[in-house]
Amino acid sequence: MSSRKLTFNIFRYDPNNPEIAPYMQPYSLEETEGMTIFVALNQIRESQDPSLKFDFVCRAAICGSCGMLINGKPGLACRTLTKNMPQVITLMPLPVFKLIGDLSVDTGSWFRHLSLKTESWIHTEKEFNPNAQEERMDNNEALKIYEAERCIECGCCIGGCATANTRDDFLGAAGINRVARFMVDPRDERSDKEYYEVVGSHEGAFGCIGLMACDDNCPMELPLQMQLSFVRRKMALIGFKV
Ligand code: FES
Repeated sequence: MSSRKLTFNIFRYDPNNPEIAPYMQPYSLEETEGMTIFVALNQIRESQDPSLKFDFVCRAAICGSCGMLINGKPGLACRTLTKNMPQVITLMPLPVFKLIGDLSVDTGSWFRHLSLKTESWIHTEKEFNPNAQEERMDNNEALKIYEAERCIECGCCIGGCATANTRDDFLGAAGINRVARFMVDPRDERSDKEYYEVVGSHEGAFGCIGLMACDDNCPMELPLQMQLSFVRRKMALIGFKV
């Protein structure tokens, strides 16, 4: 492979040091075989600039920490190969989330708020018995839950969403997907009417304007618009009755 000289234009800003305005800093790096944006960022930090901030944990598209705008499109740094990118690569932090510094954002607080708002736990009257045998579940139902559980909370669907970028009360595709996960769970005893209180508004299922960026940007290829249609249909039926 003939190696290319890559240029990384990286957003720099430290919210704790607001007297220095945000700017783009260029770095040059020799491309190596199998290089990902994650590898490149580590090399830049090790050999050129130890002050560069970005997040990662797993390096394997599991933890969701390394979401960022890669040439304007939300994606995972650890999963994006530089060989599929042009020679000049621009990296910006994901919008919507609180900026920690440079490419590092706080998705944790956003998702914690989402969990509380959607009450992301099984609601049941059944008393918990630690000695009880595991309950069996229909395989198709388990698969539906598993599909929604594949979300790694990277925030790429939120960063690319026009509604989430203009309204901070919108649950976004990750939130609607989370609600869908509990709706299909036979152990959750919430009624559709109770779900309507959570998601039957413009903050929830009716806030999406259908630009499909969540589907386009999800690194896990979750069927986010399908989940939205599922929740929206249910909520529309309840809405007519309310
Ligand atoms: S480092 Fe975990 S998803 Fe990229």
